[in-house]
Amino acid sequence: MSTISIASAAEVFELLKPDLAAIELEFARQSGSPVAVVTDIANYLIAGGGKRIRPLLLLLSAKALNCESQARIRLGAVVEMLHTATLVHDDIIDEASTRRGRPSSNTTWGNAKCVLAGDWLYMQAFQTALGERNFRILDLLISLTQQMVEGELLQMEKLGHLINEEEYFDLIYRKTACLFRVSMQLGAVIANPSALEGERPFEETLGEYGRNLGLAFQIVDDVLDLTANDDVLGKPAASDLREGKATLAVIHALERGTGADREAIRMVLADRSFNRVTHADILEILYRHGSIAYAMDTACAYAEAARQSLAELPENEYKRALLWVPGFVTSRDR
Ligand code: IPE
Ligand code: IPE
Ligand code: MG
Ligand code: MG
Repeated sequence: MSTISIASAAEVFELLKPDLAAIELEFARQSGSPVAVVTDIANYLIAGGGKRIRPLLLLLSAKALNCESQARIRLGAVVEMLHTATLVHDDIIDEASTRRGRPSSNTTWGNAKCVLAGDWLYMQAFQTALGERNFRILDLLISLTQQMVEGELLQMEKLGHLINEEEYFDLIYRKTACLFRVSMQLGAVIANPSALEGERPFEETLGEYGRNLGLAFQIVDDVLDLTANDDVLGKPAASDLREGKATLAVIHALERGTGADREAIRMVLADRSFNRVTHADILEILYRHGSIAYAMDTACAYAEAARQSLAELPENEYKRALLWVPGFVTSRDR
């Protein structure tokens, strides 16, 4: 059993401060287009902040394997650019009005321009990644993007319907956990850029950490959507049910609820509104069946699985930081 201790939030940010600052600069540099509206939308999104958890993971993964190559900064910017592109498209699809505590870009610039700005960001991310001249990197990023798009499409097909846990986990893997996984794998790739396929030290291990952490992350995002308010979240709360999305706590209550409970949930999903059944009614059902606690326990189990995935990793301060992230993910409020 490992005796290595877990880092604190302050230690982690201190450890990564210069690299995270360099990634911000790189992202801003990569967002310059001769067409002003692209740059305006990109800069607006960058200025909105965000947790920057994907670049943080990539940095920790690379550094845990003693990689100090500048590729960590470029690829850190790449994963954040891809994430930003998905947010731009997601807010159009979800018809969201706020993001990161400000009007979402679709509200300010309209859907048409934002679709194109999102496409531009995707391509800029790929162009930056291409600079590494490493097929493994492109391979990971291309499959990732396809998984994310497939995830959004599958989700759309299931809107308004009752889904089971297996379908839920497939969706959240594609739309969120896959990017966490790839962010971690990219760290391992740049630490050993010329290793043979399948023989790169720790690529699988770190990828598994990312997958588990990403699942925990989306489960928590879905719980917060049900329990938090707009001001804290910085994006519209209670939006999943209004969009017809059944997430883990809701699936749990559907399986355990009384006929009346099931009917109430079914109604909100079908109506895509709280007109006939209120948000408070739904929360009462979820709490009565312990469904929120069930979802949080599940998230904590994945967070613990993420920590366990690191068992074989050499012990250093970056591993200590990686051990801190799962607790951060499950205890966050936005
Ligand atoms: C939001 O991601 C989209 C999900 C995958 C839930 P984040 O919660 O990482 O968003 P920011 O970047 O911190 O705003
Ligand atoms: C996030 O799903 C999926 C993405 C890949 C953007 P959500 O639709 O739950 O994300 P938020 O809650 O709008 O950030
Ligand atoms: Mg959304
Ligand atoms: Mg959400």
